[in-house]
Amino acid sequence: MAIHPPQTRVWWNEPVATTELVWIAIAFVWGLIMFFMMIYWHIYGKQNLSTNVGLVDPAVYEKKTTDFANTYKVREDGGTGVPVAKPPVGGDAYMLARTYEWWPVLELEKGKSYRLHISSLDLMHGFSLQPVNMNIEVHPGREQIITITPKEAGVYGVVCNEYCGFGHHTMTGRIYVVAPGAGE
Ligand code: CUA
Repeated sequence: MAIHPPQTRVWWNEPVATTELVWIAIAFVWGLIMFFMMIYWHIYGKQNLSTNVGLVDPAVYEKKTTDFANTYKVREDGGTGVPVAKPPVGGDAYMLARTYEWWPVLELEKGKSYRLHISSLDLMHGFSLQPVNMNIEVHPGREQIITITPKEAGVYGVVCNEYCGFGHHTMTGRIYVVAPGAGE
């Protein structure tokens, strides 16, 4: 911090140094490259999912998800009381976000496609599917529909990756992927 005032009143009117100009140009061009890479990665990479988004009233979405869970419940998830819902192959699966849970738990078959619906009932949450690291921002009033085809059987965790309150770190969910026909 300067102790004395600058000697010239217009102290900022200096030519920009060449090195600084070069760095500004590099940063600007790099920003442009990354912008167009987002489009490239969307088409040829694994980033930036194609989701369909529609408006939905949170109360309506809650009812749709509750009806879905009641219809396709196959068991409770290990003493937690949370239903495990197994939608028909090729069908619709619903999951909701609310403080502080992802509900219900889903069971899907490996190699089959589903339409996964996700929305929030209250705040913005972040759907992060682990360990595959698939990330979707989840907003109240917006229903996102993603067509997914799980490739590997196993237990997948859903964690919240948008800070949503004091229970944020406890906000977890689960998706089971099983071999086709398992448990029938
Ligand atoms: Cu929900 Cu953080």
